[in-house]
Amino acid sequence: MKLRLDKAMSEDRYLTFALGKGRLAEKTLELFQDLGITCEEMKDKNTRKLIFVNEESKLRFFLAKGPDVPTYVEYGAADIGVVGRDTILEENRNVYEVLDLGFGKCRMCVCGPQSAKELLQHHERIRVASKYPNIARDYFYNKKHQTVDIIKLNGSVELGPLVALSDVIVDIVETGSTLRENGLAVLEEICPLSARMIVNPVSMQMQTERIRRLVNALQKHIHN
Ligand code: PRP
Repeated sequence: MKLRLDKAMSEDRYLTFALGKGRLAEKTLELFQDLGITCEEMKDKNTRKLIFVNEESKLRFFLAKGPDVPTYVEYGAADIGVVGRDTILEENRNVYEVLDLGFGKCRMCVCGPQSAKELLQHHERIRVASKYPNIARDYFYNKKHQTVDIIKLNGSVELGPLVALSDVIVDIVETGSTLRENGLAVLEEICPLSARMIVNPVSMQMQTERIRRLVNALQKHIHN
């Protein structure tokens, strides 16, 4: 009796997804489409709607700014989120990371002119510009035990060393072409990155079976 009730409850309620706007959301929806879960409304590029529903599978999707995705998931406004590992590490929210989706692969690195290599080796008190101050702080203070000054920027971080705002930067490197074109290089690698699926801890408990089924289906599809 209890089992039947649990099942009914879990199938009745919508499972809500927060997707990081842009390429991540596009790739995630492609993945769902491959599993037979489509959301026609969302394909309309001109729509101003914010929430999209798949009635059949009782799934809801909404698009959010990447750094807000872990916030929606921590508070339970979304059960599940898809966002880059860079954002998960930077935001440090209370969420479970359950799946590496395998796309959006890149690296978090310390970059700068070759001349800055020496400053890093000698643990000098340098200036580090980054869109990811928490990741930068954790790397320099907790892993390298190096005291540095961290300067938060909001984009085009490569400018930092070029205009003498900072000695190095902590940033995402994908193809490396932004660095090359600006005479900069990877000096140290912090960690690999890719798109991840995160889950609200309460949703994970209340909707275990449903979420597990979905994660298993995605995992199978990714590894095929
Ligand atoms: C990201 C990142 C680098 C660039 C790396 O910037 O911050 O600047 O991409 O890619 P690459 O190694 O392939 O050149 P994004 O385009 O997101 O813009 P931003 O500089 O405004 O953050």
